[in-house]
Amino acid sequence: MDAEYEIRRVEASDLIQVASIASAELREEYDSKLFSHFYEGFRGGFLVADDGERLRGFILGVPMDNATLRILMLAVRGEFSRMGIGTSLLEACKQYARLRGMRSIVLEVREGNSPAAQFYTSSGFLGVGVLEGFYNDGGQALVMKHHL
Ligand SMILES: CC(C)(COP(=O)(O)OP(=O)(O)OC[C@H]1O[C@@H](n2cnc3c(N)ncnc32)[C@H](O)[C@@H]1OP(=O)(O)O)[C@@H](O)C(=O)NCCC(=O)NCCS
Repeated sequence: MDAEYEIRRVEASDLIQVASIASAELREEYDSKLFSHFYEGFRGGFLVADDGERLRGFILGVPMDNATLRILMLAVRGEFSRMGIGTSLLEACKQYARLRGMRSIVLEVREGNSPAAQFYTSSGFLGVGVLEGFYNDGGQALVMKHHL
């Protein structure tokens, strides 16, 4: 695994890069104000992988209730894929949830995004349901859950 990056909490100056990674790697369109909103409200589970020159990826996890962290976004720049960065970001988010006494992590994956579904399966998530019309374009989501 490439260890030449650190996982740390997001800072205000990261938000432009975070938005650009989201726009390049995720299929949904996000309003750039959304990232400031989460930065203001839920910084604890908003983490970045920083190699000192730029961000390689980020994860955004927000509390759904006292016992559950919901991952809203996870993205790694394509050129850094399969280097363990997604796993490191997810593990740091799991650690954050455990420290807060949470019991599980949930997330949604777009139907057909089998690389992401395989990534989460390899990280211990199980499919627990389907949400019809979850995405803006009407796409279906697979709900996945991991007990901590
Ligand atoms: C999904 C994503 C976050 C994975 O990040 P990553 O840093 O490449 O993942 P890792 O290197 O930690 O992969 C860990 C394991 O997950 C599985 N995995 C990761 N990417 C995979 C792929 N494209 N196809 C199949 N399995 C994959 C493998 O088992 C991998 O271990 P291996 O490389 O030793 O075989 C990244 O590909 C990404 O940003 N995708 C685009 C955005 C996205 O779909 N996000 C999730 C939406 S909810």
